[in-house]
Amino acid sequence: MARYSNSQIALHWLTAVLIGLIIALPYGRDFFGDFLGGTGGVFVLHKSLGLAVLALTVLRLLVRARHGAPQILPPDAVWQQRAAKAGHALLYLLLVLMPLSGLLFGKRPLELFWLIPLEPLPLSDTTRAAAKWFHVTAQWLLFAMILGHALMALVHHYGKRDGVLAAMLPAARG
Ligand code: HEM
Ligand code: HEM
Repeated sequence: MARYSNSQIALHWLTAVLIGLIIALPYGRDFFGDFLGGTGGVFVLHKSLGLAVLALTVLRLLVRARHGAPQILPPDAVWQQRAAKAGHALLYLLLVLMPLSGLLFGKRPLELFWLIPLEPLPLSDTTRAAAKWFHVTAQWLLFAMILGHALMALVHHYGKRDGVLAAMLPAARG
């Protein structure tokens, strides 16, 4: 049965875990602050993981350009294929635009993983404000997309009992 390549599967699940953490950090800033030396540390990690997701997404898109994506849905399920394609494209777009907008609105130097200092970009206050507006607004679209995406995967697996989820899971040995 058609499956994603191992590198595509690894990049998908690594990204999913990182996105979970990236979202949990600002909302659980008090909790995580206890381990990370305060809110400052929470945002160092939020920003660093966000930029890691940007790098992983660029890598993922390169891998996809090379390997393509497997044809998993039946060839005659035309509108489902279009909907899945559009949903995945929007997820990729958000995986690029969320970290980019975060990078644009920062006014203070960023310490990548507490190791590499990055100077803020020389941008006007208007541009920063627009980027910040996008970052905090588009999060809701991201949440909706992730929920809908995971729900569809479960509907395919438990409702339709087809191979959509299996195509994105590590191969069972046997
Ligand atoms: C995949 C990447 C990212 C996602 C999904 C994401 C998501 C979020 C979310 C959900 C919040 C909470 C917003 C709120 O309190 O309403 C937030 C806040 C924030 N993010 Fe990100 N972020 C990402 C990457 C980045 C990057 C790369 C940076 C900076 C380089 C950044 C900087 C910030 C800052 C400074 C805030 C606090 C905004 C405020 O003052 O309320 N984020 N982000
Ligand atoms: C932060 C969370 C997630 C993000 C950002 C995300 C993103 C994506 C993207 C962009 C694709 C398209 C891959 C491609 O064709 O190149 C994809 C495929 C897929 N994802 Fe996720 N995903 C997330 C979480 C999940 C979860 C929780 C599940 C399962 C419950 C899941 C199941 C799948 C499956 C089964 C596919 C293959 C679907 C198909 O090709 O028809 N994903 N995901």
